[in-house]
Amino acid sequence: MNWPGIIEAYRAFLPVTEKTPVVTLFEGNTPLVRASRLCEALSLPIDLYLKYEGTNPTGSFKDRGMTLAISKAKEAGAQAVICASTGNTSASAAAFSARAELPAYVLIPEGKIAVGKLAQAMIHGATVVQVTGNFDEALVLVKEIAQKYPITLVNSINPYRLEGQKTAAFEICDQLGHAPDYHFLPVGNAGNITAYWRGYKDYHKLEKISLLPKMMGFQAAGAAPIVLGHKVEKPDTIATAIRIGNPASWKEAITAAQESQGKILSVTDEEIIYAYRKIAALEGLFCEPASAASVAGVIKLSKTGIFDVGARSPRPMRMVCTLTGHGLKDADFAVGKCKQPVTVKANINDVLKVLGL
Ligand code: F0G
Repeated sequence: MNWPGIIEAYRAFLPVTEKTPVVTLFEGNTPLVRASRLCEALSLPIDLYLKYEGTNPTGSFKDRGMTLAISKAKEAGAQAVICASTGNTSASAAAFSARAELPAYVLIPEGKIAVGKLAQAMIHGATVVQVTGNFDEALVLVKEIAQKYPITLVNSINPYRLEGQKTAAFEICDQLGHAPDYHFLPVGNAGNITAYWRGYKDYHKLEKISLLPKMMGFQAAGAAPIVLGHKVEKPDTIATAIRIGNPASWKEAITAAQESQGKILSVTDEEIIYAYRKIAALEGLFCEPASAASVAGVIKLSKTGIFDVGARSPRPMRMVCTLTGHGLKDADFAVGKCKQPVTVKANINDVLKVLGL
């Protein structure tokens, strides 16, 4: 059977009716990849899986929420949609709006979004406005505009976004046959950790899973308001997707961590880049820097020994890390982190010399 997209696949769990016009790019059904090489190379005493959301149609997990948000906007007769974004939300909003024949307006922090994401918003025909401020400031502006004009806000404060995004937790349980012991993910505006927790709880209530995972959220150290317990006026990190100082779902993220006996912690840019390179080199998965905060969190915590289980335990801890976005969105960043290719004349001897053959 062809995958029908998340709304049809999980219709019974979502706020849709026969009247909802489903706007889909056949998002979801992303691979859950066992990361044995990473565990072996880094001596991680765990059973680790990577949920690779980069294979969604616009290259990030945002498509799960956007299919529902745009379908419901269409159902309600919206005239246009608007969002603030560090890049992925705007890429997704632009793509789904194009399909839904809705104008999309997006506000992005000037110079602080990866070029691939900017390209997506532009090519899909969104009206792109760069603001000389950060994401938090852009979010305040779009909220005000959505209040004054008949334009639907499609940031994750739109309740349909998180409803759609919770389907990633369903997929993981369906793919593994149970929930993991721990779920790690990057935290920016804090919507996704909230959505996953809701998804796991929905499945638990329906007795599709017997155990709930501990939710482990990771912010970048320079943009870690939840960890610090106060807003960060000038958030700063190489992980531009999560460069956020005042997350919209702040309280909900804390609730997810507390209810699940998990934590919200931070990792440094160096730790993020280390994980980013290891995921690509050892597992063949190219994610964007922000995504690697999840694996950076696993590596950091594993050093404390908390995942070491006693000899009598029947199995190692099962963990899932969400790789939230595709690495190609920020190709310049990857190129800048690698040894540059050698240039030679188009002649066999010169090529062989460089290859050491
Ligand atoms: N990873 C990536 C690749 C993201 O784009 C985002 C958020 C996150 C993680 C964090 O998820 O906000 O639900 O905690 N990007 C938003 C955007 C803010 O505008 O694209 P969150």
